[in-house]
Amino acid sequence: MDDMYREIILDHYKNPSYKGELDPCDLSFEDENPLCGDHLKIFLRVNENGIVTDARFNGHGCAISQASADLVVESIIGKNVEDLKKMTKEDVLDLLGFEDLGPVRLKCALLSLKVLKGGIYGVKDAEE
Ligand code: FES
Ligand code: FES
Repeated sequence: MDDMYREIILDHYKNPSYKGELDPCDLSFEDENPLCGDHLKIFLRVNENGIVTDARFNGHGCAISQASADLVVESIIGKNVEDLKKMTKEDVLDLLGFEDLGPVRLKCALLSLKVLKGGIYGVKDAEE
């Protein structure tokens, strides 16, 4: 791993900007990494135009999963929920500065995306 990115990951892990809870929130969702049992929850506030106005994450996990959650949450504020559905594994790896990861660490890195998408599609289902 590139030293600069190692630092970015450790920094987001130790000093996350978006760790916490939102109460009230419009959407929250939680899930776990089946490989380790680490648990992540994401909270979103979404305005009437579908724009994410605020977001937080909470939970436990390794440095990669927590840094990924902090970076993902940071990156979605100001975006339309519809656009978040198009967010891919590559987008998350980009945020973290990886081109690819082994399967175990990939699950860690993508836990936040899994939780985010679970929440978004859950809301959609609830509306239908
Ligand atoms: Fe997740 Fe090591 S970073 S297992
Ligand atoms: Fe559990 Fe990485 S080891 S999320």
